Amino acid sequence: MSKVTGKSIILGVIGDPIEHSLSPLMHNAALESLGLNYIYLPFHVKPEFLKGAVKSLKALEIRGINVTIPHKVAIMEYLDEIDEAALDIGAVNTVVNDNGKLKGYNTDGAGYLKSLTSETGFDAKGKNILVLGAGGASLAVITALLSEHPKSLHIVNRTFKKAKTLVNKFIIKYPDIDILAISLEEWIREGLSMSYDLAVNTTSIGMKGEIPKMVLPFKVDQLPSHAIVSDIVYTPFETPMLKEANDIGLKTHYGLGMLLHQGAISFKLFTGATPPIEIMKDALLSGLNSK
Ligand code: ATR
Repeated sequence: MSKVTGKSIILGVIGDPIEHSLSPLMHNAALESLGLNYIYLPFHVKPEFLKGAVKSLKALEIRGINVTIPHKVAIMEYLDEIDEAALDIGAVNTVVNDNGKLKGYNTDGAGYLKSLTSETGFDAKGKNILVLGAGGASLAVITALLSEHPKSLHIVNRTFKKAKTLVNKFIIKYPDIDILAISLEEWIREGLSMSYDLAVNTTSIGMKGEIPKMVLPFKVDQLPSHAIVSDIVYTPFETPMLKEANDIGLKTHYGLGMLLHQGAISFKLFTGATPPIEIMKDALLSGLNSK
């Protein structure tokens, strides 16, 4: 770690719990490699202290923070300004302190898209997309994908009502895109109704390598041979769904990329410097390997 001096600028991440976060490793590796006099710290903030913690960013002149579970939505009311993508998503994962003015951003969606396009070459415009999940992470991914104007985007979720709510929200902004909610029952009964170009898992299914009995992963063998299978879960690095897709020769997109690129975009917002992507990726991989 670089030497902390009186001039060091402070960054950090807030969450509850926080000890699992890989952000300090990733950001400190990047800061050190560029010789920037910053330090990035983990802050354990319980929900009842969130308001005070946000206030302290001004008092302590902390330059910026990342925000993780469970504060991404709750923090919004304490900020001075929120950028448009974060408002669309309805959650903030990055706060920048500009001389006492706190502005919230959401880099999850843009990070997902950057990772998807840079790693697979996928261009969502005019494509058919299937999304599994309708939770907080899904919202960021769906918002980003819709901004690229696909032909269709279908959402399958265990709780149908949540998928339907998302559809109703987005259809107003994108009336020309075929946005549809599919119930799990219908999906199981009828299989995939369309030749999807991209299938994304945005749920926690597959985390720790397990597939819960009550749900199905994407039926990857029903996808066309050109389809990309994408998973935002990064523990394990290769989820069962990605393994299945790899085994039958489909192109795959791993969850680590979203984590990396959301961090890289935040890094740029905090420091103004170009993020050293490879250094950040190595730090994440070493952090994951030592877990
Ligand atoms: P996050 O903010 O990480 O996205 P979340 O908002 O709780 O977390 O959303 C989790 C997503 O994973 C939801 O789509 C959830 O489905 P429900 O809306 O039906 O709860 C999905 N999910 C989690 N565990 C699941 C399981 N065992 N089977 C099916 N879906 C699951």
